[in-house]
Amino acid sequence: MKRTEKRIQSTLDAFNVIGETEEGIQRIAYTHNEKEAQVLFAYLCKKEGMDIKVDAVGNVIARREGRFRSAPAVAVGSHVDTVYTGGRFDGIAGVVAGLEVVRRLNEKNIRTDYPVEIIAFTSEESSRFGMSTIGSKAMTGKLSIEQAVKQKDKDGVSLAEAMKHYNFDIANVNEAIRSKTELHSFLELHIEQGPELEKQNKKIAIATGIAAPTRLCVNVKGMAAHSGTTSMANRKDALIAASQLVIMIEKFAQEESLHKTVATVGVFEVFPGAMNVVPGDVEFKVDIRGLNTASKHRIVERIKEEARAVESSRGVDIEVDIIGDEQPVLLDEGIRQVLLDACKDLGMDPMVFPSGAGHDAMNMQSVCPTGLIFVPSHNGISHNPEEFTAIEDIALGCDLLEKCVLELSMEREINNAKTSG
Ligand code: GLV
Ligand code: MN
Ligand code: MN
Repeated sequence: MKRTEKRIQSTLDAFNVIGETEEGIQRIAYTHNEKEAQVLFAYLCKKEGMDIKVDAVGNVIARREGRFRSAPAVAVGSHVDTVYTGGRFDGIAGVVAGLEVVRRLNEKNIRTDYPVEIIAFTSEESSRFGMSTIGSKAMTGKLSIEQAVKQKDKDGVSLAEAMKHYNFDIANVNEAIRSKTELHSFLELHIEQGPELEKQNKKIAIATGIAAPTRLCVNVKGMAAHSGTTSMANRKDALIAASQLVIMIEKFAQEESLHKTVATVGVFEVFPGAMNVVPGDVEFKVDIRGLNTASKHRIVERIKEEARAVESSRGVDIEVDIIGDEQPVLLDEGIRQVLLDACKDLGMDPMVFPSGAGHDAMNMQSVCPTGLIFVPSHNGISHNPEEFTAIEDIALGCDLLEKCVLELSMEREINNAKTSG
């Protein structure tokens, strides 16, 4: 293993000690494990001579000054949080890649014209609050106080309360917003989380755009009843009604496969949840993803229609609440060209395709020209402890990231990238 690969490996390992469980890595949004990983990040950046700032919602921003101190920064980064049973690479690979780039700049004694930042975004995963990319939403003015009060975890703790626990007051959320004049560009390195690179035996992909989620919370209200004495004809079983709807959701998504739209029911709760009670209430959540907004919305309409049909056939009440409706994002073409040119110089043969997963990059694009680099995921597995990316592949991604950071942070390149923003 090369020296830089060893360094990447040991840094990744240091983060993955935090939240390691038998079921995978668990660094959930606004929990001790996430915060501990952010503290480690701040410590490692400080060791590289960077200035550290924690913003109003808990994003950690490490800054390496350039020759022009008031110039906009070239930022890289990703997130340190994970899903409940996460892998060792989603998010953290991009944070470690940022650190690796700064370490290389330091070793080579390179002073960039523009400042370089590494951002460890808080709470990218939607596992806890049903809302993703919380840190980058706040940074780009897309997180409202109402949402933060409304979105609750499964214990009824709101996002605002969870923030408060770490001394972040949601009333100050707008202080996290960064202006277009502060950021020159943003680059995120991430594992692909899909099988394309490995299938084609390629090492790098440049994302063209990012699919965004539309999310529903569905409440089915039937009637809780004695499981022994209530005849089959006399039931309003919320679980059966909800199941019927879930089966149809799969069908609706399959019928949109032309647009590559997907739909998932990953949260499904039954109340009161007792062996001897006909289920009275069910709450489930639907995550619809795709690059085609009309296709996502068609699925939402069909779910609503089907809900009305199930209501009348089963005598239950069904409420369909849209809890998120994000727009797919096209990433900056100028940055994509910088990435493609850098690949050429480095002898890399990249693929170019859109991302099905969400990323902080999708919010950052609204503030500055943004690019997203993928490195391969073994068997396309992600959000799973089996997630694996070879260190050599992350190191190649770092080579590309380093080259692009250098090109973007030196004066001669600035205007080129800006024109396409
Ligand atoms: C992020 O991992 C997502 O849910 O897309
Ligand atoms: Mn991620
Ligand atoms: Mn993820």
